[in-house]
Amino acid sequence: MKNIHPVFDQILGRQDKEAILNQKSIALWFTGLSGSGKTTIARHVEGELAKRGFFTQVLDGDNIRSGINNNLGFSEEDRHENIRRIAEVTKLFINCGVITLNCFISPTMKMRSLARSIISDKNFFEIFVDTPLDICEQRDVKGLYKKARAGEIKHFTGIDSPFEEPRNPNLHVKTHGETIEHCTSVIIDAILPIISLRNTK
Ligand code: ADX
Repeated sequence: MKNIHPVFDQILGRQDKEAILNQKSIALWFTGLSGSGKTTIARHVEGELAKRGFFTQVLDGDNIRSGINNNLGFSEEDRHENIRRIAEVTKLFINCGVITLNCFISPTMKMRSLARSIISDKNFFEIFVDTPLDICEQRDVKGLYKKARAGEIKHFTGIDSPFEEPRNPNLHVKTHGETIEHCTSVIIDAILPIISLRNTK
């Protein structure tokens, strides 16, 4: 940080931008196993928010890892760095008044609390997308569980790399046996009071 002088007090601040967008920004942090439905649910939530006039950005593991984080793998250290960078990027979006939907396995308490501390507690809403491992494995949309079981992919979350369930998420969504519409509406109901400027005025 030597000789670096960051300037964060711009002419237009976060509140001005939130006022333009008529919303309060927040990071909706979806955590869960690969194939648990994080991105699918986030996209549905985004669609419902768009209908109500909210301005959002989905950030997800597969996309971010093909761009800004394309030099990172799946060791504990690299996952940590993955989450650190994405949390910093998220902070920029939040300061622009944008609601982000972050879909990252973020498998350990330590990684999620790192993200929470960078983004700040009051801007961080953790959603545990709780789909049992056997269901994710049955679905195996990307064929990765099969490869992990065959030993072709190492350090695969839930197989030979840990997933620590959140103990106290802001919202716990059990997807098994529920429709995507139900999961989406549970999330929408929980977040509307938080992101609406209009209701709180
Ligand atoms: S995280 O652990 O660092 O948060 P992230 O959400 O960015 O992971 O990326 C997860 C996605 O990468 C998975 O949905 C899957 O498509 C792919 N992937 C490739 N290798 C692995 C692996 N070893 N463990 C988990 N996901 C993997």
